Amino acid sequence: MALYMIGIGLNDEKDISVKGLELIKKADKVYLENYTSVLDCSIQDLEKFYGKEIILADRNMIENGISDILEESKEQNIAVLIVGDVLVATTHIGILLEAEEKGIDVEVIHNSSIFNAIGDVGLFSYEFGKITSIPFGYQNVEVPIRVFNDNYKLGYHTLFLLDLDPKNDKYLEIPEAARYLIDKGIDPELISIGCARMGSKNKEIKVAKLKDLAKSTFKQKLHCLIIPGKMHFIEEEAIERWKEQK
Ligand SMILES: C[S@@+](CC[C@H](N)C(=O)[O-])C[C@H]1O[C@@H](n2cnc3c(N)ncnc32)[C@H](O)[C@@H]1O
Repeated sequence: MALYMIGIGLNDEKDISVKGLELIKKADKVYLENYTSVLDCSIQDLEKFYGKEIILADRNMIENGISDILEESKEQNIAVLIVGDVLVATTHIGILLEAEEKGIDVEVIHNSSIFNAIGDVGLFSYEFGKITSIPFGYQNVEVPIRVFNDNYKLGYHTLFLLDLDPKNDKYLEIPEAARYLIDKGIDPELISIGCARMGSKNKEIKVAKLKDLAKSTFKQKLHCLIIPGKMHFIEEEAIERWKEQK
């Protein structure tokens, strides 16, 4: 009996790894953690492809009800599916620690994540500084600004993750995030990169001044924003591809 923590990738039902799918097939119960990120397909698409019924697990069920799920995994094989990677920009390390403390066998299956999908933009991953998040209630929030200033001083790129509330179909979008950054004193002339629905063939990447991203529109939901620091000439050449033709 075991707990399987399975990353299911960024886009649709087919992003699961072979190992992940094998464990889902072995599982007696399959939960989908559905608040830290979202796929671009329906639960029914997942159920059909995985051949299993899926139980939706919201924040309350994972954060407050995890002991029940851990108890179940003493008697049965339980799979918890996480969009993207299990441990990237989630707090699921807490589940692993609690499971290990209770002597439960845990298997983690990693998958691609927003952290590697932004590689498409063309910035070098080792030139990113600290990552930060912009929450919905950003009015009095200063942390993303401090993180950006610290990174920028060191020449590092900053990735801003943007808040989401899939249960209520609410997503913080790039234009609003750009307006928040400008209102908090970040230079509107800075070249910035808006990324929507990365990891899918419908991904959208736009390179423009921050003030122009504040007025931009994206067709897809699930956004993040990057402000590059000092760029190598290859990075400059790579991001040029995403500038809108005027
Ligand atoms: C809390 S993080 C969870 C990351 C996830 N565990 C992973 O490995 O990708 C979710 C945030 O990352 C960003 N994000 C995740 N997937 C994305 C995608 N495909 N395209 C653009 N942004 C994405 C969004 O800002 C979203 O609100």
